[in-house]
Amino acid sequence: MKLKKRGMKLPSISKRAQKYKGSPIRRIASLLEKASMNKDIISFGGGAPSLAPPHEIIEKVIQQLKEKPQLSTAYCSTEGLPRTRELIREDLKRDEGIDISPDEITITTGGTEAIYAVFQTILNPGDEVITADPTYLCYEEPMKLMGAKQVRIPVYWREDFQFYPDRINEKITNKTKAIILLSPDNPTGSIQTEENVKGIVELCEDHDLWLITDDIYKDIVYEGKFVNSREYGGYENTITTCSFSKTASIPGVRIGYAYGPKQVISKLSELKQATTLTAPRLSQYFVQALLEDGARVKHEYLKNIVIPTYKARRDAMARELKKQIPELEFSKPEGAFYFFIDMSDYIQDDVEFSDRLFKEKSVVIIPGSHFGENGKKHVRITFVSETEERIKQGISKIRDFIRE
Ligand SMILES: Cc1ncc(COP(=O)(O)O)c(C=O)c1O
Repeated sequence: MKLKKRGMKLPSISKRAQKYKGSPIRRIASLLEKASMNKDIISFGGGAPSLAPPHEIIEKVIQQLKEKPQLSTAYCSTEGLPRTRELIREDLKRDEGIDISPDEITITTGGTEAIYAVFQTILNPGDEVITADPTYLCYEEPMKLMGAKQVRIPVYWREDFQFYPDRINEKITNKTKAIILLSPDNPTGSIQTEENVKGIVELCEDHDLWLITDDIYKDIVYEGKFVNSREYGGYENTITTCSFSKTASIPGVRIGYAYGPKQVISKLSELKQATTLTAPRLSQYFVQALLEDGARVKHEYLKNIVIPTYKARRDAMARELKKQIPELEFSKPEGAFYFFIDMSDYIQDDVEFSDRLFKEKSVVIIPGSHFGENGKKHVRITFVSETEERIKQGISKIRDFIRE
């Protein structure tokens, strides 16, 4: 039935929604999806895993769905299935030596919901949250929704993007509520030294701040070592967000989790009832299959497929950048999926450079300024999506574009 137009004015949307800016990477991802139907595009853009997930977890979920269709598609409790939480607890104990109870974990719809729910639980209007600059670009908007402010501290490639506690200390005010630690990092691929992690834990304890650790890339480490900050204390004031999107190459399954002090996690779960009610039950079976049996599938998949494949791609990208554009200097990422390259000697505007590279050479990269003021005249290029051969082709195209 076609409704007759009455010439009514569109009722207003909220001031909050009017201020909300979508993620530029999501916008690029949807443009890319459309454009790639017509031409061959080399993507050094989005950080989505490009490998197939472990076969065994797919098989287990199919079997579960066939055998128990009603149960598999039912609601579950807001904090997640007890078995999923217990397996995550065991995994943290075994791999990171972290001792928590299942009540201190809640399952979320991806790491994204975990981040949003944590902000919603701890932030008041006017609070300040300290992050590195550049940093993951999806912290700022949810923080703004809570009326909080992001305070950014520059980190530099010549210092391997280290986030030094003494520089953080200078920015702590009576409005500071939390510090975010992201290691391995997006967009720089850096891993913080144990000394810095320890220093940040101490700062948070000394100033009664929340420490939010985003551990989404903890399993994607090529050199160096991921350290869970709790090795240095902070069980009472640390909240961690994490997900299986990168570890198990299942970003569309949308399973993440948050863990921390029980009082915070139970409040966070209550607030989550108003957003997603529960994380999808069926998706939790993927994670159970990954972590059962001492997380055998997770360990084998990371060791035999994920790390060797991405490490070879990272090395190919470093090699080609050095060979084809020797004047470019950069620090080689030790983890995650990204190179963050200072192009200030070659470009005026990283957004324009990235747009033109896409239009003229069909190569996608992400402008560094999307990750913060200090990312201006930088670009983020990822090695996660393309084969070594195509990485070589893509870098040749970037070289030709710079030379032209
Ligand atoms: C640093 C960081 N945190 C969180 C996320 C959210 O991931 P997801 O919602 O897929 O778990 C991402 C995704 O790219 C990320 O890079």
